[in-house]
Amino acid sequence: MAMQYDQISDAYSKAASQFVFKRVVESYTLFKVLGPVEGKSFLDVACGDGYYARLFRHRGAARVVGVDVSEQMIKTARGRDEGAGLGVEYRVHDAADLPVLGSFDRVTAVYLLNYAATREQMLRMCQGMFANLAPGGRLVAVVPNADFDPAGPSSARYGIAMRPPEDRKEGSAMSLDLLMDPPLTIHFVYWSRSAYAQAFAEAGFGDIRWHPLECSPEPEQVEFWRDYLANQHAIALSCRKPPLA
Ligand SMILES: C[S@@+](CC[C@H](N)C(=O)[O-])C[C@H]1O[C@@H](n2cnc3c(N)ncnc32)[C@H](O)[C@@H]1O
Repeated sequence: MAMQYDQISDAYSKAASQFVFKRVVESYTLFKVLGPVEGKSFLDVACGDGYYARLFRHRGAARVVGVDVSEQMIKTARGRDEGAGLGVEYRVHDAADLPVLGSFDRVTAVYLLNYAATREQMLRMCQGMFANLAPGGRLVAVVPNADFDPAGPSSARYGIAMRPPEDRKEGSAMSLDLLMDPPLTIHFVYWSRSAYAQAFAEAGFGDIRWHPLECSPEPEQVEFWRDYLANQHAIALSCRKPPLA
Protein backbone atom coordinates (compact mmCIF):
# COMPACT_ATOMS: atom_id res chain seq x y z
CA MET A 1 0.00 0.00 0.00
CA ALA A 2 2.84 2.39 0.91
CA MET A 3 4.60 1.64 -2.38
CA GLN A 4 1.68 2.98 -4.48
CA TYR A 5 3.48 6.35 -4.30
CA ASP A 6 6.35 5.04 -6.40
CA GLN A 7 3.77 4.84 -9.23
CA ILE A 8 1.84 8.05 -8.53
CA SER A 9 4.55 10.43 -7.28
CA ASP A 10 4.29 12.88 -10.19
CA ALA A 11 0.48 12.87 -10.22
CA TYR A 12 0.35 13.29 -6.42
CA SER A 13 2.88 16.11 -6.48
CA LYS A 14 0.90 17.90 -9.21
CA ALA A 15 -2.34 17.43 -7.25
CA ALA A 16 -0.79 18.73 -4.01
CA SER A 17 0.55 21.87 -5.67
CA GLN A 18 -2.82 22.66 -7.30
CA PHE A 19 -5.12 21.59 -4.50
CA VAL A 20 -6.70 24.66 -2.88
CA PHE A 21 -7.70 22.53 0.14
CA LYS A 22 -4.04 21.93 1.00
CA ARG A 23 -3.24 25.63 1.11
CA VAL A 24 -6.43 27.13 2.54
CA VAL A 25 -7.48 24.43 5.04
CA GLU A 26 -4.83 21.79 5.72
CA SER A 27 -1.70 23.95 5.93
CA TYR A 28 -3.61 26.76 7.65
CA THR A 29 -4.56 24.31 10.43
CA LEU A 30 -1.15 22.63 10.54
CA PHE A 31 0.70 25.92 11.06
CA LYS A 32 -1.87 27.13 13.60
CA VAL A 33 -1.39 23.95 15.66
CA LEU A 34 2.42 23.98 15.25
CA GLY A 35 2.86 27.56 16.46
CA PRO A 36 6.08 29.49 15.68
CA VAL A 37 8.37 27.78 13.15
CA GLU A 38 11.30 30.19 13.01
CA GLY A 39 14.59 28.81 14.34
CA LYS A 40 13.13 25.38 15.09
CA SER A 41 14.27 22.01 13.76
CA PHE A 42 11.69 19.86 11.95
CA LEU A 43 11.47 16.19 11.01
CA ASP A 44 8.70 15.71 8.42
CA VAL A 45 7.84 12.00 8.27
CA ALA A 46 6.00 10.85 5.11
CA CYS A 47 7.17 14.12 3.55
CA GLY A 48 6.02 13.10 0.06
CA ASP A 49 7.27 15.62 -2.48
CA GLY A 50 8.44 17.93 0.31
CA TYR A 51 5.36 20.20 0.26
CA TYR A 52 5.61 20.95 4.00
CA ALA A 53 9.40 20.55 4.30
CA ARG A 54 9.80 23.46 1.87
CA LEU A 55 7.19 25.56 3.70
CA PHE A 56 9.01 25.02 7.02
CA ARG A 57 12.24 26.35 5.50
CA HIS A 58 10.37 29.25 3.85
CA ARG A 59 9.00 30.14 7.29
CA GLY A 60 12.47 30.19 8.84
CA ALA A 61 12.98 26.68 10.28
CA ALA A 62 16.65 26.16 11.15
CA ARG A 63 16.92 22.53 10.02
CA VAL A 64 14.44 20.41 8.08
CA VAL A 65 14.74 16.69 7.41
CA GLY A 66 12.13 14.99 5.20
CA VAL A 67 11.68 11.22 5.31
CA ASP A 68 9.56 9.04 3.05
CA VAL A 69 9.40 5.32 2.28
CA SER A 70 8.98 5.97 -1.45
CA GLU A 71 12.25 6.47 -3.32
CA GLN A 72 10.33 8.05 -6.16
CA MET A 73 8.67 10.58 -3.84
CA ILE A 74 12.05 11.55 -2.40
CA LYS A 75 13.41 11.90 -5.93
CA THR A 76 10.50 14.21 -6.78
CA ALA A 77 11.13 16.21 -3.57
CA ARG A 78 14.82 16.63 -4.37
CA GLY A 79 13.92 17.69 -7.92
CA ARG A 80 11.47 20.31 -6.65
CA ASP A 81 14.07 21.74 -4.29
CA GLU A 82 16.81 21.81 -6.92
CA GLY A 83 18.16 25.30 -7.36
CA ALA A 84 15.95 26.69 -4.60
CA GLY A 85 18.82 26.41 -2.12
CA LEU A 86 16.47 25.48 0.69
CA GLY A 87 18.83 22.94 2.17
CA VAL A 88 16.17 20.39 3.13
CA GLU A 89 17.77 16.97 3.84
CA TYR A 90 15.77 14.13 2.33
CA ARG A 91 16.08 10.48 3.35
CA VAL A 92 14.37 7.25 2.31
CA HIS A 93 13.16 5.34 5.38
CA ASP A 94 10.14 3.33 6.40
CA ALA A 95 8.60 5.21 9.33
CA ALA A 96 8.00 1.86 11.05
CA ASP A 97 11.77 1.42 11.13
CA LEU A 98 12.96 4.98 11.63
CA PRO A 99 16.54 5.54 12.83
CA VAL A 100 17.33 8.45 15.13
CA LEU A 101 18.17 11.33 12.77
CA GLY A 102 18.35 14.05 15.41
CA SER A 103 16.69 15.56 18.44
CA PHE A 104 14.05 17.69 16.72
CA ASP A 105 11.88 20.47 18.15
CA ARG A 106 8.94 19.39 16.00
CA VAL A 107 7.94 16.22 14.16
CA THR A 108 5.16 16.30 11.57
CA ALA A 109 3.34 13.35 10.05
CA VAL A 110 0.77 14.51 7.51
CA TYR A 111 -1.06 11.37 6.26
CA LEU A 112 1.41 8.81 7.59
CA LEU A 113 -0.35 6.74 10.23
CA ASN A 114 -3.20 5.74 7.92
CA TYR A 115 -0.64 3.63 6.02
CA ALA A 116 0.09 1.44 9.07
CA ALA A 117 -1.24 -1.99 8.15
CA THR A 118 -1.41 -3.15 11.78
CA ARG A 119 -1.60 -1.55 15.23
CA GLU A 120 1.89 -2.88 15.89
CA GLN A 121 3.23 -1.04 12.83
CA MET A 122 1.47 2.16 13.93
CA LEU A 123 3.03 1.85 17.38
CA ARG A 124 6.49 1.42 15.84
CA MET A 125 5.94 4.58 13.76
CA CYS A 126 4.95 6.52 16.90
CA GLN A 127 7.94 5.12 18.85
CA GLY A 128 10.34 6.13 16.05
CA MET A 129 8.96 9.67 15.98
CA PHE A 130 9.12 9.85 19.80
CA ALA A 131 12.82 8.86 19.69
CA ASN A 132 13.50 11.71 17.22
CA LEU A 133 11.92 14.43 19.37
CA ALA A 134 13.72 16.56 21.94
CA PRO A 135 12.23 16.36 25.45
CA GLY A 136 9.25 18.74 25.52
CA GLY A 137 9.07 18.68 21.70
CA ARG A 138 5.73 18.42 19.89
CA LEU A 139 4.41 16.20 17.14
CA VAL A 140 1.56 17.26 14.85
CA ALA A 141 -0.14 14.68 12.66
CA VAL A 142 -2.97 14.83 10.14
CA VAL A 143 -5.02 11.65 9.66
CA PRO A 144 -8.27 10.76 7.87
CA ASN A 145 -11.26 11.68 10.01
CA ALA A 146 -12.75 8.41 11.27
CA ASP A 147 -16.04 10.25 11.94
CA PHE A 148 -16.44 11.41 8.32
CA ASP A 149 -19.97 10.72 7.10
CA PRO A 150 -20.03 9.72 3.40
CA ALA A 151 -23.75 10.58 3.35
CA GLY A 152 -23.16 13.99 4.95
CA PRO A 153 -22.48 17.35 3.26
CA SER A 154 -20.52 16.35 0.20
CA SER A 155 -16.81 16.93 0.11
CA ALA A 156 -16.85 15.91 -3.58
CA ARG A 157 -17.62 19.57 -4.25
CA TYR A 158 -14.23 20.28 -2.70
CA GLY A 159 -12.35 17.80 -4.84
CA ILE A 160 -12.29 14.84 -2.42
CA ALA A 161 -14.44 11.69 -2.39
CA MET A 162 -13.66 9.42 0.58
CA ARG A 163 -15.11 5.95 1.16
CA PRO A 164 -14.71 4.64 4.73
CA PRO A 165 -15.54 0.94 5.24
CA GLU A 166 -19.24 0.51 5.99
CA ASP A 167 -18.61 -1.50 9.16
CA ARG A 168 -15.82 0.88 10.33
CA LYS A 169 -13.69 -2.15 11.18
CA GLU A 170 -10.23 -1.26 12.46
CA GLY A 171 -7.48 -2.02 9.98
CA SER A 172 -9.72 -2.45 6.93
CA ALA A 173 -8.86 -1.10 3.51
CA MET A 174 -10.34 2.18 2.31
CA SER A 175 -9.67 4.72 -0.40
CA LEU A 176 -10.28 8.23 -1.53
CA ASP A 177 -10.35 9.93 -4.90
CA LEU A 178 -8.75 13.30 -5.52
CA LEU A 179 -11.16 14.59 -8.14
CA MET A 180 -8.77 15.99 -10.68
CA ASP A 181 -8.56 15.27 -14.38
CA PRO A 182 -7.95 12.31 -14.39
CA PRO A 183 -8.99 11.43 -10.79
CA LEU A 184 -6.29 10.03 -8.52
CA THR A 185 -7.25 7.16 -6.22
CA ILE A 186 -5.30 6.67 -2.98
CA HIS A 187 -5.53 3.45 -0.95
CA PHE A 188 -4.94 3.33 2.80
CA VAL A 189 -6.21 1.84 6.07
CA TYR A 190 -9.17 2.75 8.29
CA TRP A 191 -8.32 3.41 11.96
CA SER A 192 -10.55 4.94 14.63
CA ARG A 193 -9.52 8.04 16.56
CA SER A 194 -8.95 5.89 19.65
CA ALA A 195 -6.55 3.60 17.73
CA TYR A 196 -4.44 6.63 16.77
CA ALA A 197 -4.55 8.16 20.26
CA GLN A 198 -3.70 4.82 21.87
CA ALA A 199 -0.60 4.36 19.68
CA PHE A 200 0.69 7.82 20.65
CA ALA A 201 -0.01 7.22 24.35
CA GLU A 202 1.68 3.80 24.26
CA ALA A 203 4.76 5.32 22.60
CA GLY A 204 5.10 7.71 25.57
CA PHE A 205 3.44 10.89 24.26
CA GLY A 206 1.29 13.07 26.52
CA ASP A 207 -1.03 16.05 26.02
CA ILE A 208 -2.78 14.30 23.10
CA ARG A 209 -5.32 16.65 21.52
CA TRP A 210 -7.53 16.58 18.43
CA HIS A 211 -7.84 19.70 16.29
CA PRO A 212 -10.65 19.85 13.72
CA LEU A 213 -9.45 21.46 10.49
CA GLU A 214 -10.10 25.18 10.09
CA CYS A 215 -9.84 27.41 7.09
CA SER A 216 -7.96 30.60 6.52
CA PRO A 217 -10.14 33.47 7.82
CA GLU A 218 -10.68 35.26 4.48
CA PRO A 219 -14.48 35.82 4.27
CA GLU A 220 -14.92 34.21 0.82
CA GLN A 221 -12.94 31.13 1.93
CA VAL A 222 -14.93 30.80 5.17
CA GLU A 223 -18.13 30.84 3.12
CA PHE A 224 -16.82 28.38 0.51
CA TRP A 225 -15.45 25.80 2.98
CA ARG A 226 -18.42 25.86 5.40
CA ASP A 227 -19.93 22.50 4.28
CA TYR A 228 -16.53 20.84 4.08
CA LEU A 229 -15.66 21.85 7.64
CA ALA A 230 -18.99 20.46 8.89
CA ASN A 231 -18.02 17.01 7.56
CA GLN A 232 -14.26 17.10 7.09
CA HIS A 233 -12.39 14.15 5.67
CA ALA A 234 -9.26 14.71 7.79
CA ILE A 235 -8.37 15.91 11.25
CA ALA A 236 -5.19 17.05 13.03
CA LEU A 237 -3.76 15.69 16.27
CA SER A 238 -0.98 17.09 18.45
CA CYS A 239 0.96 15.53 21.30
CA ARG A 240 4.09 16.20 23.32
CA LYS A 241 7.12 14.23 24.43
CA PRO A 242 7.30 14.87 28.18
CA PRO A 243 10.03 17.34 29.21
CA LEU A 244 12.92 16.07 31.35
CA ALA A 245 11.92 16.09 35.02
C1 LIG B 1 -0.74 11.46 0.99
S1 LIG B 1 1.03 11.48 0.87
C2 LIG B 1 1.37 12.86 1.94
C3 LIG B 1 2.66 13.55 1.63
C4 LIG B 1 2.92 14.81 2.45
N1 LIG B 1 2.93 14.56 3.87
C5 LIG B 1 1.90 15.86 2.12
O1 LIG B 1 1.03 16.14 2.95
O2 LIG B 1 1.96 16.42 1.00
C6 LIG B 1 1.48 10.10 1.90
C7 LIG B 1 2.97 9.82 1.92
O3 LIG B 1 3.22 8.83 2.94
C8 LIG B 1 4.31 8.05 2.51
N2 LIG B 1 4.34 6.82 3.31
C9 LIG B 1 3.43 5.82 3.34
N3 LIG B 1 3.82 4.85 4.19
C10 LIG B 1 5.00 5.25 4.72
C11 LIG B 1 5.92 4.66 5.65
N4 LIG B 1 5.68 3.46 6.18
N5 LIG B 1 7.03 5.35 5.96
C12 LIG B 1 7.30 6.56 5.40
N6 LIG B 1 6.48 7.15 4.51
C13 LIG B 1 5.34 6.52 4.17
C14 LIG B 1 4.01 7.84 1.04
O4 LIG B 1 5.12 7.37 0.31
C15 LIG B 1 3.53 9.24 0.63
O5 LIG B 1 4.59 10.03 0.16
